[in-house]
Amino acid sequence: MNSLQGIFAYLNYHVPQTRREIIETLFKGLQRLEYRGYDSAGIGIDGGNNKEWEDKGKQISIIKRNGKIKTLEEEVNKQEDVDFDAEFETHFGIAHTRWATHGVPNIVNSHPQRSDKDNEFIVIHNGIITNHKNLRKFLESKGYEFESETDTESIAKLIKYVHDNSESENISFATLVERVIQQLEGAFALVFKSVHFPGQAVCTSTIIEHTNRVIFLEDNDVAAVVAGCLSIHRVERTPSDCPARGIQTLQVEMQQMMKGNYSSFMQKEIFEQPESVVNTMRGRVNFENNTVILGGLKDSIKEIRRCRRLLIIACGTSYHSGLATRQILEELTELPVTVELSSDFLDRSTPVFRDDVCFFLSQSGETADTLMALRYCKGRRTLTVGITNTVGSSISRETDCGVHINAGPEIGVASTKVYTSQFVALVMFALMMSEDRISMQQRRKEIIQGLQNLPEQIKEVLSSDEEIQRLASELYQQKSVLIMGRGYHYATCLEGALKIKEITFMHSEGILAGELKHGPLALVDHRMPVIMVVMRDPTFVKCQNALQQVVARQGRPILICEKNDEETMKNAYRAIKVPHTVDCLQGILSVIPLQLLAFHLAVLRGYDVDDNKRLRKIEADYVPM
Ligand code: UD1
Ligand code: M6R
Repeated sequence: MNSLQGIFAYLNYHVPQTRREIIETLFKGLQRLEYRGYDSAGIGIDGGNNKEWEDKGKQISIIKRNGKIKTLEEEVNKQEDVDFDAEFETHFGIAHTRWATHGVPNIVNSHPQRSDKDNEFIVIHNGIITNHKNLRKFLESKGYEFESETDTESIAKLIKYVHDNSESENISFATLVERVIQQLEGAFALVFKSVHFPGQAVCTSTIIEHTNRVIFLEDNDVAAVVAGCLSIHRVERTPSDCPARGIQTLQVEMQQMMKGNYSSFMQKEIFEQPESVVNTMRGRVNFENNTVILGGLKDSIKEIRRCRRLLIIACGTSYHSGLATRQILEELTELPVTVELSSDFLDRSTPVFRDDVCFFLSQSGETADTLMALRYCKGRRTLTVGITNTVGSSISRETDCGVHINAGPEIGVASTKVYTSQFVALVMFALMMSEDRISMQQRRKEIIQGLQNLPEQIKEVLSSDEEIQRLASELYQQKSVLIMGRGYHYATCLEGALKIKEITFMHSEGILAGELKHGPLALVDHRMPVIMVVMRDPTFVKCQNALQQVVARQGRPILICEKNDEETMKNAYRAIKVPHTVDCLQGILSVIPLQLLAFHLAVLRGYDVDDNKRLRKIEADYVPM
């Protein structure tokens, strides 16, 4: 049994094998996966440590090493007191190569991860568990002690927790795993082994190679091999009648934990951004050698490089993230890039050609107009690429290839962390497209360094929260707010205005500063709240001109500007300062004050920012399955 993601497992059922043969098979399996790249490896087999190894079938041994598979193999062969000739009638062995994402490459962080010191349950995992911090907190509160920095360890501990809390029910290994994966968020392929279920294998979403036949598991499938028979169950992710008390406790406590100390999911998601952008880059950007690899685009990148035009198609906030990155995409790909609103794209029956590449951006992966635009483009045989937050969503499944942004579930109705993660994903794509361009190396390096500094800088912006709350208390009774900017920050203005409209029910408009004199300036006077984004980038002088025009109309501009830009601040009625980063990433830092402002305005106006409009949205906007 194996998967293509650094996981290998081997079950011999009523086919006697010696320990040596089993270990050799596991290593052969790992060697076949070696080309995928890894930094450590580990195996899990029956038999306790050293002298206790003979107690076969009852205990599990884990052997892990940093570095090459060869090093691990040498380590295994070095074990004294081990009877390599011991024979197993039935045995299940698991093996894994790890490429560090959560925590540095070291022995403790390697897989298999274990439930406890007695290795009652062990697990190997590929993917990312986006709610692992909450799971860890919950399990720690129940007395579990964690030893690694991995997200995977929370799965190993969780299965023991669920097992111990449902012991009286006498449930099967597969049911146990089903209950566990119902609590996991993210993308994952898992294989479990347990002392409580010797000779049994349970895995999820992966590939099983069964002699010469391959079974592809869909998301939420659990495959179990018990007494030599394979069965596949489909898991309902939201069981209403889950009987286990442990699970109920977990669900209630997790709900509370998910919101943490925040008053709403929107606020929590805004404050999660230092981490969510890291999750988007995790395992994809190498800051040491300045390389970017998006696994989901690796096989298609050559074809994308040959295209004649990039089209980005999306709605709402997702559309804005396309607009925000258009300029850097044009610069690094040297291709024409058009950004389209899905509904308008469809209304126009826009011509698309086979040498176009069409990108579909979506948090949910289910937005009707975007999905219909995707199907329209597929009908015209263009290559379709998804940038989605929801693994297994329609857009993720129906696109030819794509990138999961891994921002974690976005529950608040207003999209916040997904905007910044889509932004980062598109910048990573631009970097990947330009990796061979010698003339662009300096620029690429500067951007990659900028990406590395983002989390700290986002934290710095978030520290202005109280100041922004005070600003909101001055503005919340107003009818309207104008937000102006240009270049990289036009998208920031549109996105800020959308946030304000959507959750505060105030009128708000994002205005391209270059268009001021063509009409919008008529709205500006000493009463109209005007927010201006003025950054030290190539549009700086033009933004200064716009600022002068606003001041000349007795406008009282609230500026979002760089923290050392005293010159600009002189003209400010109020200034919100953000740190400086490379021009094409500055939009990530300039949008966060507007997310916070929208949030505080809504709270002061007495609205529930997480309002269940999302449910209405599902009814109205989503294509029925
Ligand atoms: C994949 C794993 C990730 C693991 C990593 C390590 C999944 C979902 N992701 O991530 O857990 O850590 O390998 O090697 O198992 N795709 C689309 N449309 C979309 C989004 C994605 O077709 O809108 C496709 C991609 O082309 C790819 C697959 O889905 O074939 C997974 O995409 P993604 O999660 O982004 O790939 P990796 O980053 O390689
Ligand atoms: O799930 P999607 O990204 O496809 O959704 C698109 C828009 O409906 C969405 O971004 C909407 O604009 C947000 N709620 C705005 O905060």
